[in-house]
Amino acid sequence: MTTPQQGRLYLVGVGPGDPELMTCKAVRVLENAPVWIAPKARVNGSSSALQIAAAQVGVEGREVLELRFSMKKIRLGQQADPEVSRLWQEAAGAVLERLDRGQDVAFPTLGDPTLYSTAFYLLTTLQQRRPRIRATIVPGITAMAACSARIGQPLGLGDDVVTIVPAAFDDDRLRSILTTFDAVVLMKVHRRMAQIVRLLDELGLTGSAVLIERCGLDEQRIYTDVRQAVGRELHYFSTMLVRRRSPEDVL
Ligand SMILES: C[S@@+](CC[C@H](N)C(=O)[O-])C[C@H]1O[C@@H](n2cnc3c(N)ncnc32)[C@H](O)[C@@H]1O
Repeated sequence: MTTPQQGRLYLVGVGPGDPELMTCKAVRVLENAPVWIAPKARVNGSSSALQIAAAQVGVEGREVLELRFSMKKIRLGQQADPEVSRLWQEAAGAVLERLDRGQDVAFPTLGDPTLYSTAFYLLTTLQQRRPRIRATIVPGITAMAACSARIGQPLGLGDDVVTIVPAAFDDDRLRSILTTFDAVVLMKVHRRMAQIVRLLDELGLTGSAVLIERCGLDEQRIYTDVRQAVGRELHYFSTMLVRRRSPEDVL
């Protein structure tokens, strides 16, 4: 009896929510994969990714493998919490079972898989256990690209230096970033608006910021006056763009 060729793991970027922003390659890979991964019990980017994928491709006839990942904060350079590592190992074990059976496994992820995606921890854990694992990353349209396009601003232009902040920073670090870089993308801002707006006010940058909530989805909201978002229950899909320079500065 011959052993089946090991399946391939695909980390698939499904874009930021608008189904039309899923690439043809993402659709094809998802259509062909008999197993999809869905993080269990998370009202966040990754389980939303499953919904985005399901709306475009449909889950019928395939296994949706629910895996638990921790919500605990991860800091690169610091050993992950033992509970976090245990869950990554468990998830890797379940995926390896499918791959060893010769099944391809797709992990739909919000936006692009290379940008703050849980999928990458899974890939790294698998690569540590099986260095020769077959894996492919299918890039997706990032939330910051969709948000910039939505408000008609460049993400970076000319000699702009662009910085991306996962918004888990303290005041000093954020102040230094906002005063150093020409364009700043702040992600996961939904629970940090009071802190961020206070800093923007202090730095005279409030008028240079725009908040985009649920870009490309129902109930999308754009706050050109970001003070209006303070005290509101914002959706997790909220991104702030701060530009210190305008494209018109060169004209
Ligand atoms: C874990 S990060 C994932 C980023 C994603 N991998 C990407 O490439 O854009 C989740 C953050 O992405 C942003 N985001 C995702 N979808 C969004 C949307 N439709 N509108 C606004 N922001 C969004 C929010 O800042 C959210 O907190």
